[in-house]
Amino acid sequence: MLKIDVVLTPSNYRSSLAADRSVVIVDVLRASTTVATALYYGAREIIPFRYPSEAEEMVGRMERNEVILAGERKSVKIPGFDLGNSPLEYLTGVVSNKVILFCTTNGTRMMKRVGSQRNVLLSAFVNMSSVVERLISDARDVLILCSGHEGGFSLEDSVCSGMIISRLRGSVKEYRIELGDEATAAEILYDHFKDDLMDMAMSSSHGRNLIDSGMEEDVRFCMMVDKFNIVPELRSGVWVSGKRGIEK
Ligand code: MLT
Repeated sequence: MLKIDVVLTPSNYRSSLAADRSVVIVDVLRASTTVATALYYGAREIIPFRYPSEAEEMVGRMERNEVILAGERKSVKIPGFDLGNSPLEYLTGVVSNKVILFCTTNGTRMMKRVGSQRNVLLSAFVNMSSVVERLISDARDVLILCSGHEGGFSLEDSVCSGMIISRLRGSVKEYRIELGDEATAAEILYDHFKDDLMDMAMSSSHGRNLIDSGMEEDVRFCMMVDKFNIVPELRSGVWVSGKRGIEK
């Protein structure tokens, strides 16, 4: 049997829920999409921070040309930082072999709450199949954590969680799958929106905010499914490119 639970509202997360599980953090708009993109384009590691001042303090202790200070507040690049949180900024060689110190409003807050726990992966739509393959190969029960919005629910993270569940259900036919109530709700939401993920994202409150701030291209990018074959994995609190489940 494969048990899958989802935390739809991050304020309900407790570390005991993660015991002996594969944990997947989701922040579709935009932090998990950005981390997947940066690692795909060769970033060496991505260190999450809760507060910009902590990242600034660390950059002062590093070789400046090896490190990128990145992140957002209210979706806009933090003043004095090198990059914001648009995945489109990470598409070129600019991040290749760099350490990225990364601070966002909800995504890195969730990452820091999980701390240095083992077996933690990061998913977005852009790396969906790679993460699902890895979950199958790791063969543990699964806990999916939505980063949400300021401790509360977000539509796009919930739908992405539902897609992970739906893909797992389609792939592990030999196991009975047991879902917690929030996982059931996430799968139903995914089923409702699966034929128009773009429309779902554009009608979500964070999607609308990004579009109103001129970032529609980001929303479109974040809704692309399986653009990257990459599995971000948390090792001692730092995101690195982890092993894929099944190499193609
Ligand atoms: C966050 O972590 O809250 C986000 O990724 C916000 C954003 O920049 O869109």
